[in-house]
Amino acid sequence: MRDVIVACDFSSAEEVLAFLDRFAGCERKPFVKIGMELYYAAGPEIVREIKRRGHKIFLDLKLHDIPNTVKKTMRVLSNLDVDMTNLHAAGTIEMMKAALEGLTRTDGTRPILIAVTQLTSTSEERMQKELLINASIADTIAHYAANAKEAGLDGVVCSPLEASVVKQKCGDGFIAVTPGIRFADAAKDDQVRITTPARAKEIGSDYIVVGRPITAAEDPVAAYNRCVEEYI
Ligand code: C5P
Repeated sequence: MRDVIVACDFSSAEEVLAFLDRFAGCERKPFVKIGMELYYAAGPEIVREIKRRGHKIFLDLKLHDIPNTVKKTMRVLSNLDVDMTNLHAAGTIEMMKAALEGLTRTDGTRPILIAVTQLTSTSEERMQKELLINASIADTIAHYAANAKEAGLDGVVCSPLEASVVKQKCGDGFIAVTPGIRFADAAKDDQVRITTPARAKEIGSDYIVVGRPITAAEDPVAAYNRCVEEYI
C-alpha cells in the first residue's frame, strides 16, 4: 500500500497539466498532492481534471475551523472524489469527528483523513513561547496524533523522523504520511528534518510526499521512478 505522492506545487492549471503530461506514457500514474496554492488558483475543476486523467489525489488544504463549517466543507471535498485529505489536529477532537462525518459518503465510503500535528516549520521554542504549549514538541506530536486516532482518523502528516513516535503511540496501522524527502546526493532546499526515500521505508512511512526533487528535476519521470524504486 506504500505510495509516492508528488507535491504538485504549481500556481496554474496549465503548469500542472503540462507537468503531468510528461508522465503520459508511464505505467504507474503518480498519486498527486494538490495544495492550497494550486487549489486557490485553479479551483475544484483542476481536481476533477487530474482525477479524469486517472491520478489519485491528496487534497492538502489543512482545514481548521468550527466543527460545523469543517463538516460541511468536508462534504463538498468528498463529493470531489479525492482519495485523501487533511485538517489540523489543533481544531480539537470534536472538529475532527465532525470532519469525518462530513467526509463519509452515503454509501459509507470516504477519502483517507489525516491530521497535521505540528507543522515541521514550527520549532519547539516558538511552540512553547508563542503558542504557550508547555510540552516538548515530540510529546505534543504524539498527543495530537492520539487525539486524531481517538476521533477516528486514519493517520497524520509528520516528518519522517517523527513517524516512529507516532507508530509507537498509535499503532502500526495508523498512517504516517511524510514530506521532507530528499535523495542522498541532492540539495535540501528549505527542508530541515529530511530523509531519503529508502530510509523513509525503513522508518515505516506509509506514504512519502515528494515535491521539488521531482518537480524541479531535469527529468521528472526519472526522479519519480527513482523514488518508486527506492521506496516501494
Ligand atoms: O518540495 P518539497 O519536497 O520540499 O515539498 C514538500 C511538500 O510537502 C510541500 O507541498 C509542503 O507544503 C508539504 N509539507 C511539508 N511539511 C509539512 C507538511 C507539508 O513539507 N509538515
